[in-house]
Amino acid sequence: MSVQPDKLRAETALMFPPGFVWGAATAAFQVEGATTADGRTDSVWDVFARKPGAVVGGDTGDPAADHYRRYGEDVDLMRRLGLGAYRFSLAWPRIRPDAGLPNPAGLAFYDRLVDRLLDAGIAPWATLYHWDLPQALEEKGGWAARDTAFRFAEYAETVLERLGDRVASWSTLNEPWCAAMLGYAGGIHAPGRRDPAAAVAAAHHLLLGHGLAMDVIRRHAGDTPAGITLNLYPVAPHDPASAADVDAARRVDGQQNRLFLDPVLRGGYPEDLVADLAPFGLTDVVREGDTTTIAAPIDWLGVNYYRDYTVAGTPVLGSKPASPEWVGAADVHFVPNEAAPLTASGWEVQPAGLTASLLQVHRDYRPVPLYITENGAAYPDDVTENGDIVDTDRIAFLDSHLQAAHEAIEAGVDLRGYFYWSLLDNFEWAEGYAKRFGLIHVDYATQRRTPKRSAFWYSRVAGLNGLS
Ligand code: FCB
Repeated sequence: MSVQPDKLRAETALMFPPGFVWGAATAAFQVEGATTADGRTDSVWDVFARKPGAVVGGDTGDPAADHYRRYGEDVDLMRRLGLGAYRFSLAWPRIRPDAGLPNPAGLAFYDRLVDRLLDAGIAPWATLYHWDLPQALEEKGGWAARDTAFRFAEYAETVLERLGDRVASWSTLNEPWCAAMLGYAGGIHAPGRRDPAAAVAAAHHLLLGHGLAMDVIRRHAGDTPAGITLNLYPVAPHDPASAADVDAARRVDGQQNRLFLDPVLRGGYPEDLVADLAPFGLTDVVREGDTTTIAAPIDWLGVNYYRDYTVAGTPVLGSKPASPEWVGAADVHFVPNEAAPLTASGWEVQPAGLTASLLQVHRDYRPVPLYITENGAAYPDDVTENGDIVDTDRIAFLDSHLQAAHEAIEAGVDLRGYFYWSLLDNFEWAEGYAKRFGLIHVDYATQRRTPKRSAFWYSRVAGLNGLS
């Protein structure tokens, strides 16, 4: 019996649940450029990027993808690709320059962006904080200072007053682990500090800021779904029979995942982590009532997933000792998986880890709808002579990770959407412009946009609501 090609496709397609959100993500500092326009003042990233050697190539936040001026063209591209949602962040130093008074010109930009998205039928998903702390606040202690959490709530109030009626979904923070640990202990992200106690305090104050901002969102936009975005990594012991390796995995999972998941979804820090981080002052910064504030109910949890980790308690062949962002864990070793292909960032491609991360949240925490708020890969993305960008490696990455996401859904995970990182090539933090994650190529000299093959592939997936 012959099978019709169309029928075959339908039978083998991996369909996602009805209403599944297909989007792409960016962040203000990585795409906007225009860092001195309309009253914007320095963020910690402007200052950090000016330090010699801090960012590859001496790259800074200008021009980025000039999204501040070209947002209209970018929204049109999203519409043509059929994306249902755009996840972007708001720049605190545009909206309250130097963390001072509200700046109408800065707010007006997000007003225009949101309206343009709504006109195009694209749901605006706004993140309040994607790492661009006003430098003026860093000079008063940054996230290591408790007051910063309250200044964040004040800034959230300004944003919600203006946009609370039109944003489709709110996120308080993006990846507080990076903001706290890479910024204050690792020294490789802004503000570039290497002070583990400051990092632990920063983690707590970011979470406190999240809780305070949830209250602001509820007051101004009660019916709008809101949540927080965490970067989760499944962590496995190199040798499950080794007590030292198992303990190393417990500690890394603690700092990377449970330090944020537990206070948000369980109402407190895990005991083992409190003990690990007590020498770095975790218990000293937590005040009465903080854990209740942080555990404010959320409507969804955003999971950013890039790769997984295998760790050992002693050096093994090819392993690397933990760098300073792992607080008090210099004896832990990260073990490469030689079999996994690498992206241009040197990150292992580990789609199964996405299923594992989603399942970890599903099994260990109270029920909460999940969204993959970031997942993506950098590749060289050479432009061919006719201007085509044949990024088959990115298509394979996407395909394998979407299959992994589908597997999680089949296992019962309440996964409701996927945002590719990133819509556009952009400023990849300490890696500068050299790492291209976009579905859309950006020629930084001309700011010309060219959708890559992956953009067309993703567009088809979104249109079908599944993988054919
Ligand atoms: C995540 C960040 C995002 C981007 C990707 C590659 O950690 O949230 O801004 O840089 O990594």
